[in-house]
Amino acid sequence: MTTLKHAAVCTVAVAVVVQACVREHDPLLSGQSIVRRQDAVGFPPVLDENESVLANSFDNTSLDTWSYYYTHGLHVAGTNRTMAEWTADRWNENGFTAHLTEYYVFLNYPVSHSLSLSLPSGTIYTPSLTEEVLAEDETSSYPNRVPTFHGYSFTGNASAEFVYVGRGQQVDFARLQALGVPLQGKIALSRYGGPFRGLKVKNAQEHGMVGAVLFIDPGDDGNITEANGYAAYPDGPARNPSSSQRGSVQFASIYPGDPTTPGYPSKRDSPRTGRSGVTPRIPSLPISWAEVVPLLAALDGWGTPGEQVNRTRWVGALNVSYSTGPAPGATISMSNVMNDTYTSIWNTIGIINGTRQDEVIVIGNHRDAWIVGGAADPNSGSAVMVELSKAFGALLRTGWQPRRTIVLCSWDAEEYGLVGSTEWVEEYIPWLTEAAVAYLNIDIATSGPNPNIFATPDLHDIAISTMKKVIYPYRGSTNSTLYDAWYSARMGRVGVLGSGSDYTSFLHRGISSIDMGSDAGPDDPVYHYHSNYDSYHWMTTFGDPGFVQHKAMGQYLSLLAYHLADDEIVPYNVNTFTQEMRHYLDALNQTIISNGASAEVDIAPLGEAIDIFDQAATALMTALASASTSPSTTSSAADAEYIDTLNHKLRDFQRGFTSQGGLPGREFYRHVVFAPGLDTGYEPVTFPGVTEQVQSGDLALAAEWVGKTRAGILRAAEVLRL
Ligand SMILES: *[C@@H]1O[C@H](CO)[C@@H](O)[C@H](O)[C@H]1NC(C)=O
Ligand SMILES: *[C@@H]1O[C@H](CO)[C@@H](O)[C@H](O)[C@H]1NC(C)=O
Ligand SMILES: *[C@@H]1O[C@H](CO)[C@@H](O)[C@H](O)[C@H]1NC(C)=O
Ligand SMILES: *[C@@H]1O[C@H](CO)[C@@H](O)[C@H](O)[C@H]1NC(C)=O
Ligand SMILES: *[C@@H]1O[C@H](CO)[C@@H](O)[C@H](O)[C@H]1NC(C)=O
Ligand SMILES: *[C@@H]1O[C@H](CO)[C@@H](O)[C@H](O)[C@H]1NC(C)=O
Ligand SMILES: *[C@@H]1O[C@H](CO)[C@@H](O)[C@H](O)[C@H]1NC(C)=O
Ligand SMILES: *[C@@H]1O[C@H](CO)[C@@H](O)[C@H](O)[C@H]1NC(C)=O
Ligand SMILES: *[C@@H]1O[C@H](CO)[C@@H](O)[C@H](O)[C@H]1NC(C)=O
Ligand SMILES: *[C@@H]1O[C@H](CO)[C@@H](O)[C@H](O)[C@H]1NC(C)=O
Ligand SMILES: *[C@@H]1O[C@H](CO)[C@@H](O)[C@H](O)[C@H]1NC(C)=O
Repeated sequence: MTTLKHAAVCTVAVAVVVQACVREHDPLLSGQSIVRRQDAVGFPPVLDENESVLANSFDNTSLDTWSYYYTHGLHVAGTNRTMAEWTADRWNENGFTAHLTEYYVFLNYPVSHSLSLSLPSGTIYTPSLTEEVLAEDETSSYPNRVPTFHGYSFTGNASAEFVYVGRGQQVDFARLQALGVPLQGKIALSRYGGPFRGLKVKNAQEHGMVGAVLFIDPGDDGNITEANGYAAYPDGPARNPSSSQRGSVQFASIYPGDPTTPGYPSKRDSPRTGRSGVTPRIPSLPISWAEVVPLLAALDGWGTPGEQVNRTRWVGALNVSYSTGPAPGATISMSNVMNDTYTSIWNTIGIINGTRQDEVIVIGNHRDAWIVGGAADPNSGSAVMVELSKAFGALLRTGWQPRRTIVLCSWDAEEYGLVGSTEWVEEYIPWLTEAAVAYLNIDIATSGPNPNIFATPDLHDIAISTMKKVIYPYRGSTNSTLYDAWYSARMGRVGVLGSGSDYTSFLHRGISSIDMGSDAGPDDPVYHYHSNYDSYHWMTTFGDPGFVQHKAMGQYLSLLAYHLADDEIVPYNVNTFTQEMRHYLDALNQTIISNGASAEVDIAPLGEAIDIFDQAATALMTALASASTSPSTTSSAADAEYIDTLNHKLRDFQRGFTSQGGLPGREFYRHVVFAPGLDTGYEPVTFPGVTEQVQSGDLALAAEWVGKTRAGILRAAEVLRL
């Protein structure tokens, strides 16, 4: 699927020049802190013996081989059991014990679709809705290539006048209503970017609209556009004009996973619920920028011109006025036919037993792609996972065994809505609640050169320090580390986890999590997200020639996994959790003040709870520091037991943050400190139970959620307490 790293192209050049930033939502508003640039570290980084075995095992030639395999066969969710078995075979060869787990889930596949525009003049325009076959890009011509469509979309027809709705967020619709633009009975034309695409369709549906057409706008492609003189793919780095974005239209911020089995695993005989609360009841289709122009142009001169709508990123880069419409008598007729079906999906699970059974780290990447290729999404991550299994195999051959059990997961059906991972977590939650120390996710390992990490705050220190151990050639520098590249690209900001990939089910069961990848900035080759051109040819020509970024991201994931699995003391810093929560509280305070809600919503109890958390966290960190400096030669069984006790506090404390009934209106999302925004889907919101109720004006519920959030913080503090 995607994380906000693709939703929001926002970056900074090496020279720390702030570039065009299309992120609609400032991460600082959710209260993230910025880590100060640490002193230059030596180059090359110095690794210990076991770290060296892992890092030296990474080889760009074998990464290329794995990438080629994963990107030359159809592997849309539920269509390729062979690929799941091949993955298990590679992991088995490398010393993991791997098997498949099967679920029986609701999915739908494209059968046929069409769209036409009729103008009052009688002119009819019928876009092809297909991506061009390119001689240079072999998988673009595969006979079983995947049509452009939306996963979990609704089978139906719509014929109506249409309205341009910008990014399709609730604020966009509110603006249209204020401008008096009729929505009821019309079709929505929305640009991609910003909120998760399913929420655009949801919002259109909730405003009485009867269909949705979602288009790519080259205004989101940074500087690398044909208008700026760059050739389009395959001749150059600009976007191929026919490229289209597939993707799920599930209402992902309400509930991910199989929509017919909320809260329990999907087996053949599982009871099924209705799904209309989480999948659309109006048809939707994706379209390319080249083919959408006549549709937008038909609205020119009707309704309110784009400039006067005065909404962020309403006007894009196409040669039209981005007027709202509707244009009287200009209509779209659309048809979308899907095969709604229950079918098998296969996760591959590989295990190395640790010396102890009660501490487990889980590493996951999805395998399914919307297209035959998927060289970045997700198979740059899949290639890394095979190479990681090889690296751990090399370490096992030295006689090493991890302290904690390591579980590798290759998820199916992530693209439809995190289905494989969610069903698996729902099945194994008693074990995971008992034993899971961390979940490490890699989805798009690379679609460009800018590294990015998102993590729960306890993981920040180890995640940052491990970046200093990896060589990462970056924008001409050959002596930079991953840390240097990350610092240049992100200014020291570790992202807050929202949603958009498989960490979601783990995080919302209170398991410490990290997501990682690298992506393109505004001056890098345009990544053709969920398009046929996310292919092996694109990757080897533009995305990561030489598999340099693949290698570095894989080394990073391996070294991080090694320390999480093997350090005697789990390398978490819970004081960072305190600091981050204080930032989130300041942000919430500002939200309350700007909404004029200070009288009704008193957040002092949250501040008090954070103080109590702080005391427990500080005492624990002090105990950990003295436990780790006591000489191991004198360690007795009693010492080992003491260390277990401390480690289990680190493993378990986040379970305390989960609230049984879930956040208001979305039972699945339980974490009281962070969640995807209800109307963003990708972008996070902190202290979501309070923040979102303040924003929506339900102040009584906001006040109630101050109590529930406080209770979560106190439960977490209680677990940490010595
Ligand atoms: C990219 O675009 C931004 C804003 O559009 C501009 O400030 C910047 O100079 C451009 N960078 C390059 C390398 O052209
Ligand atoms: C599954 O994927 C593999 C590897 O890409 C490919 O060779 C095979 O043809 C695919 N199977 C099907 C049924 O498409
Ligand atoms: C556009 O919106 C901003 C913020 O809401 C407002 O300050 C500004 O006056 C508006 N401009 C116009 C031309 O309406
Ligand atoms: C933009 O469109 C107008 C009329 O629709 C046309 O006259 C003009 O040449 C176009 N500009 C570009 C740069 O294509
Ligand atoms: C839906 O539209 C398609 C394509 O125009 C047409 O073949 C089909 O008959 C329509 N179905 C209904 C129920 O109107
Ligand atoms: C729908 O998909 C199922 C596979 O899940 C397949 O068996 C069936 O033939 C398909 N039906 C149509 C009409 O394509
Ligand atoms: C790993 O441990 C489990 C649980 O004790 C056991 O069932 C399994 O056989 C072990 N696997 C290997 C490869 O030793
Ligand atoms: C590397 O692993 C071995 C076990 O195979 C262990 O004895 C040794 O202490 C480890 N080295 C370091 C530097 O941790
Ligand atoms: C990296 O190389 C540049 C010159 O290419 C040099 O100025 C710089 O000091 C080097 N940095 C390190 C850490 O070696
Ligand atoms: C691997 O890296 C080397 C050195 O950078 C490069 O020459 C080679 O072409 C790369 N191999 C592949 C398969 O990309
Ligand atoms: C909220 O912000 C106001 C104004 O900056 C400040 O006076 C107040 O102490 C803050 N409240 C909390 C709970 O942080």
